[in-house]
Amino acid sequence: MLSDEPTGRLLVASNRLPISLRRDPIGEWQATPSAGGLVTALNPVLQRRGGVWIGWHGATAEEGGDELRDLGGLIDMGYALAPISLSDRQRDHFYLGFANEAIWPLFHDLPTRCTFNPDYWTAYREVNRAFALAIRDELRPDDTVWVHDYHLMHVAADLAALGAEAPTAFFLHIPFPPPDIFLKLPWREQVLEALLDYGRLGFQTARDLRNFVESARVLLPRGAVRGRGRTATVRHQGRTVSLGAYPIGVDAAAFSAAADAPAVQELAQQLREAHAPGRMVLGVDRLDYTKGIVERLAAFRYLLASEPDLREQITLVQVVVPSRTDIAEYAGLKAEIEQLVGEINGEFTRPGWVPVHYLFRALAHEELLAYYRAADIALITPLKDGMNLVAKEFSVCNRADGALILSEFAGAAEQLRVGALLVNPYDIAGTAGAIHRAAALPRAERRARLRALRRVVSRQDVYAWVDQFLAGAEPGPAEAALLAAQV
Ligand code: F6P
Repeated sequence: MLSDEPTGRLLVASNRLPISLRRDPIGEWQATPSAGGLVTALNPVLQRRGGVWIGWHGATAEEGGDELRDLGGLIDMGYALAPISLSDRQRDHFYLGFANEAIWPLFHDLPTRCTFNPDYWTAYREVNRAFALAIRDELRPDDTVWVHDYHLMHVAADLAALGAEAPTAFFLHIPFPPPDIFLKLPWREQVLEALLDYGRLGFQTARDLRNFVESARVLLPRGAVRGRGRTATVRHQGRTVSLGAYPIGVDAAAFSAAADAPAVQELAQQLREAHAPGRMVLGVDRLDYTKGIVERLAAFRYLLASEPDLREQITLVQVVVPSRTDIAEYAGLKAEIEQLVGEINGEFTRPGWVPVHYLFRALAHEELLAYYRAADIALITPLKDGMNLVAKEFSVCNRADGALILSEFAGAAEQLRVGALLVNPYDIAGTAGAIHRAAALPRAERRARLRALRRVVSRQDVYAWVDQFLAGAEPGPAEAALLAAQV
């Protein structure tokens, strides 16, 4: 059990390391930062307090990944990296298969997109055990093992089977679905019970915690689950597991300071001039069907069709960061997005104005910050999202009195409803209306909303998240009151 904030080292395990390795055309290994909120959040934490990060480096054994045992010579992150190597089959069945074709769509309430292949489960168990072995090899007395995300739900059970003794905690970065969806999983008992082998479980929102608690009530004996609101406990096999809702944050101070760097200011100025005198609407997402990119483009098209006065007055910059393109659904989504962008631009472009600027690549950090700084409106409309850190990053980096339009199905909506305009991303006309409204908001209101957003994001930053989660603490009184008013 974790009771106080640990004093020993933090062993962090996640599917992916914060850097991914690929061979360049001349066969040399090149490291690039991994995409996604988990890495953005945890990297500064480990840089500040040290520790070890255990994860996959992104290459398979068949690609030569086994030779990458010591990454120290390739990259210095400021903390230790312990790489895991997967085989081609494990990448296909564990990472692409069980994690991203079964759990990912199911936990995002999209069961019709799931593939429940028994071979995937076998590979999942195998890779979770490989992670447990790697953790055991790293383990020193006083270490705390903190495992992250849906790829590694079975690791505590495997560590226990190996006889490794250490406090273990798990944080789920993605949503936990309601019981009527979770119960469709053919391995629901195994997954639920494996999660209860951790000493502490963290969820992004009160909604996710409630969903887990309800599934546990269905699958476990009566009376095992206690609690409501933002914390709960489960009695399981003679132990008490503590559960809580701990919304993840960003390194708000670092983002804000970096957005004020002269090079970022200059780039932001260039972007504003390029889009002047119109409004710049910004979307930034990993390529994923959960992000609502297709629905968002449909809303933007609807807006241009129904409000001719806005033509040439508004531009959508949509950044899509490549992700999981080896999965057919993701490749298909890319094609669908590109077709829609082509159709919108084909229909509405006029000399000197292209309505959608589409970037399919990971942006350099400074470039991303410049977009955050310069945008008039951030349009973040996932169909479902664990948290969505882009919304939080925008809130602390924007300097244009920008407005945030946010999906009510993003975990971040729980905290950011204080300043954001919330939308149902499935409602095309409603989302178009929100863009129209955001573009017309009086400056004083935009400023007040952004100030409120910045306050919440700065106070509940990633360091507060780590401290509260590891200490099992509930949010401080101010945050609790704020959250209670919002849930
Ligand atoms: O935030 C959810 C998540 O799956 C993280 O675990 C992961 O780091 C990120 O999205 C990116 O996904 P992937 O590692 O599959 O590219």
